[in-house]
Amino acid sequence: MNILITGGAGFIGSHVVRRLVTNYPHDNIINLDVLTYAGNLENLKDIQDKPNYIFVKGDIGDEALVDELFKKHHITHVVHLAAESHVDRSIKDPLIFLKTNIIGTANLLQVAKKHWSGDYNGKLFYHISTDEVYGSLEMGTDMFTEETAYDPRSPYSASKASSDHLVRAFYHTYHMPVVISNCSNNYGPNHFPEKLIPLMLHNIIHKKPLPVYGKGENVRDWLYVEDHARAIDVILHHGKPGETYNIGGHNEWKNIDIVHYLCDAMDAKLGRSSGESRELITYVTDRAGHDLRYAIDASKIKNELGWVPAETFETGIAKTIDWYLHNQEWLDHVTSGAYQEYYEKMYHE
Ligand code: NAD
Ligand code: DAU
Repeated sequence: MNILITGGAGFIGSHVVRRLVTNYPHDNIINLDVLTYAGNLENLKDIQDKPNYIFVKGDIGDEALVDELFKKHHITHVVHLAAESHVDRSIKDPLIFLKTNIIGTANLLQVAKKHWSGDYNGKLFYHISTDEVYGSLEMGTDMFTEETAYDPRSPYSASKASSDHLVRAFYHTYHMPVVISNCSNNYGPNHFPEKLIPLMLHNIIHKKPLPVYGKGENVRDWLYVEDHARAIDVILHHGKPGETYNIGGHNEWKNIDIVHYLCDAMDAKLGRSSGESRELITYVTDRAGHDLRYAIDASKIKNELGWVPAETFETGIAKTIDWYLHNQEWLDHVTSGAYQEYYEKMYHE
């Protein structure tokens, strides 16, 4: 397989790249990433010299570049993760979300169609999406299934929903083999500290305020990032074209309970007195249009492909906390901006 992975320098993408490069030495992995603020090649230091791995700095919306990559590397599979991914940024500046997530996806589909439409055999366009396309649940036991109607409510989720529709349109209209997965909130190593869990860990370490939106009552369903990367591996190799798979950890937590959990675990790790970090909690203005609750029914991927998460929240968060405590240089480089110099250093000096 010659696999074009987009967004492979980001949080989830870097775990997917590492997994595929390591586990499938006979496949070729081409990582196309434009390195926005969220792209960090330090995430891939350990595999950057592997013979089956190539990094290309570029935009998924650049038709000539994507066309050249398909030609040069005889791309057979696309694993599409590149996106603007942060809901709060989408509320401040929606247009870049539409450009990257919708137009960028459309460009990849167009180029794939151009190269594959003569013979779709052995080809697959795998689009990575989010549970946020399904909207928001009330408190209770309802869950999102693959049949839940789309109801996106933020510019981010609307852009992802739009890209999902485009991918399905290429399946129905042009018979392109596609597969989509919609995953719940990920956490784990290399998570950019603008998202809830890494932001809280960073701020606890530095004794800075812990901003909790609204009353902290909103619920998210958390999945350890390595479990997501393994699900992507399984779907890439065994998923059925035209299908959608929901991925989730059955790990629903109220935000305030997570923040309390992180404060207490970090106090114990850092030798601080019990309750010290909880003092840093600051309730701030709620996110506009804040979705109340997400919860994923992941029974289809379990029943059809045999995937279940390996980590509970407690085991995954313990690994995550240890990773952040042992990789403070990574965190410092992200907060100082030094990580953005890595590409020039590694690829151009
Ligand atoms: P991220 O923001 O950490 O990484 C996104 C990556 O895409 C970055 O490396 C960035 O440089 C790259 N990128 C952005 N615009 C690009 C462009 N125009 N061309 C090429 N590369 C570009 O995101 P993430 O959290 O790793 O999410 C990856 C994917 O998974 C996204 O599609 C997201 O919607 C989806 N997803 C994320 C979560 C989650 O909890 N983080 C859950 C479900 C689905
Ligand atoms: O559900 C999947 C989605 O999960 C992905 O598609 C997105 O790419 C990913 O960013 C994530 O979206 P969320 O908005 O759920 O994640 P975030 O970490 O931004 O926020 C999680 C919850 O915590 C949410 O209810 C808002 C709240 N929050 C967040 C931040 C950053 C706070 O209370 N304080 C904060 O400082």
